[in-house]
Amino acid sequence: MPTKSFTLIDNQNNKHYEYPVMEGTRGPSVLDLRTFFKDSGFFTYDPGFTSTASCASKITFIDGEKGELRYRGIPIEELALKHSYLENCYLILTGELPDKAALLDFDLEIRHRAFLHEGLRHLFSVFPDNAHPMATLAAAVTALSTFYDDHEICHDEISYQEMARRIIAKIPTIAAFAYRHSLGIPFIQPDIDLGFTENFLTMMRAYPGGKMHLSAKGHEEIKEVEIRALDTIFTLHADHEQNASTTVVRGVASTGAHPYVAISSGISALWGRAHGGANESVIAQLEYIGSVDKVEAFIEKAKDPNDDFRLMGFGHRVYKNFDPRAKILKNLQDELREELGLDSELMAIARKIEEIAMNDAYFISRNLYPNIDFYTGIILTALQIPKSMFTPIFVIGRTVGWITQWIEFKQDSTSKIARPRQLYTGN
Ligand code: CMC
Repeated sequence: MPTKSFTLIDNQNNKHYEYPVMEGTRGPSVLDLRTFFKDSGFFTYDPGFTSTASCASKITFIDGEKGELRYRGIPIEELALKHSYLENCYLILTGELPDKAALLDFDLEIRHRAFLHEGLRHLFSVFPDNAHPMATLAAAVTALSTFYDDHEICHDEISYQEMARRIIAKIPTIAAFAYRHSLGIPFIQPDIDLGFTENFLTMMRAYPGGKMHLSAKGHEEIKEVEIRALDTIFTLHADHEQNASTTVVRGVASTGAHPYVAISSGISALWGRAHGGANESVIAQLEYIGSVDKVEAFIEKAKDPNDDFRLMGFGHRVYKNFDPRAKILKNLQDELREELGLDSELMAIARKIEEIAMNDAYFISRNLYPNIDFYTGIILTALQIPKSMFTPIFVIGRTVGWITQWIEFKQDSTSKIARPRQLYTGN
């Protein structure tokens, strides 16, 4: 037995069971209970996995008490403020930030892979008008697997990387097509001359021919500040260790299904408002509250134990002091307030909620702070992005995290099919 271990004692018969402690490089150590059932005949009970490490990972680290988030060991503050989303993608995928030449290669590869097979393009036409882009996105990503069936089995680093880069490049195109289909307007093809984030904004906004809205002053071109803001949002969403949707992606990976089907399952899991769907719900809630003078009444509703109303964009399973992604976005919001024209009634309502909730005993005692989704909506609204596209934007950012976690799962010799046990309470 290693020097660090736990002894569990069955008080009914005084049997002792000893389990080794596994040490990570950061964060809490883990009690290795893999043989517990075989040894004792008992399962462990942990709904929502509040105390369970489902895997070992080298990708992302969170310290919820300190409000710390790192991709591949580097603090999120440094990555979000000094590096582009594509640099961060490369980091998450490969473990290293790219040098200039590697970044150029990666950028060009992503640009060239952004186009969709014409067959896939036709899929969008089967969905009804007003289909939510998240539903269309999940269906289209499942359909994408049929065009690349060889990715079901990746043999080496080259095939893993090709599979991952393909989905990272195509997700913005699929998301933009899903949006344009929901409006019944023609698709805009990716433009090889444009970088990742500008390309996505162009596919969202442009008129046929790729030109922007024309006013008496000329075309309303996309501003650098808009690209920067969205690029930062993509980076802040890029990975978040074993959250609900990533757990789903790993779970599907464990069955041997195609990686893009695993990503599609992650998209579906992200859609819920307790997870990535919160960003859409935050703005819907601000609109519903409607004016600053109604905020206090809604805060009271959120505190009422007999009312299931929750303040969207507040609280987090892991962060218990602050969400570092929210802090970066709040600063960005303050910095870009004038340039992006953020001042609005919605912003005033959001500020009032923040001010009251953060000084209220209910929220303080439960460690409920604004999370990333509280701030993205205001910025995305200023970028002329409609609410229904907020969660697809989360998907675009998160795809690199999901696919890297999928690869890590596949390359880990200790990986097993996900198959939890239960405490049966029926007849
Ligand atoms: N408004 C009011 N009360 C809340 C809220 C909220 N947003 N969140 C949690 N609580 C209360 C909850 O009622 C409970 O109170 P009590 O102890 O009196 O029963 C206590 O705080 C603990 O809540 P919990 O549901 O046990 O906490 P959890 O860790 O299981 O859930 C959460 C975390 C994020 C699902 C939850 O805080 C929530 O529903 N927040 C609103 C949705 C949201 O903003 N989600 C986005 C999360 S960040 C993006 C991402 O990474 O996915």
